[in-house]
Amino acid sequence: MVMLPVGVFLTWVTTSKFEILQTGGNTLTEKPMKSHSSLQVIRDEHASLAAMLQSMRMMVKRGPAEDRRNFFDVVRAMLFYIDEFPERLHHPKESNLLFPKVVKLAPKVMGAIDKLERDHMYSEKAARDMQHLLLAWELLGDARRTVFEEAFEKYINFYLEHMSLEESVILPEAERCFSEDDWRVLDAAFAQNADPLTGHYPPAQEFEKLFSLIVTRAPSPIGLG
Ligand SMILES: [Fe+2]
Ligand SMILES: [Fe+2]
Repeated sequence: MVMLPVGVFLTWVTTSKFEILQTGGNTLTEKPMKSHSSLQVIRDEHASLAAMLQSMRMMVKRGPAEDRRNFFDVVRAMLFYIDEFPERLHHPKESNLLFPKVVKLAPKVMGAIDKLERDHMYSEKAARDMQHLLLAWELLGDARRTVFEEAFEKYINFYLEHMSLEESVILPEAERCFSEDDWRVLDAAFAQNADPLTGHYPPAQEFEKLFSLIVTRAPSPIGLG
């Protein structure tokens, strides 16, 4: 089990401010701790994803330099991690449990939910597309670098805007409208995610190698590299 990086990352999560994660004029705003555990899990998972994207942006800006193999190994691992955690665990629970309940209780958020649902459909494909574009850069050479860089910048901005909309519109509305029974269902569902990059859970055995690769070789704020 990888202990040190988890602690280091936990320290970052608990002490840093979202305000550092600005991109294209979009800023995620840190929210105070709420009593419902699912809200905290959603915000923690947003924080770890934002940190991952920030770290990847730094890596891509630096480029492969002399250590091409390390660069592509780490960026590929990070994209794969996004595919495994936010795409498979976080978004489906929002789409299946959070959004339908919020829109039923507060129909005024229909427009925001509609956009967020389209985002969820787009982001799963986008994560695969980014992996393909990275592979093209790695295997076909620097002629494909600009295409990756431009698509990646759009991908980061898209994701930060998506999380910002959820935090500014959907979560406050859920806090306003949900009953204790609604929260029980949502809390139980999100408690199962256990994303190790939030810093609150050790990685499951099958993810130890991947987690270790990211946190020992990626740059701050996600890792020690
Ligand atoms: Fe989402
Ligand atoms: Fe989310």
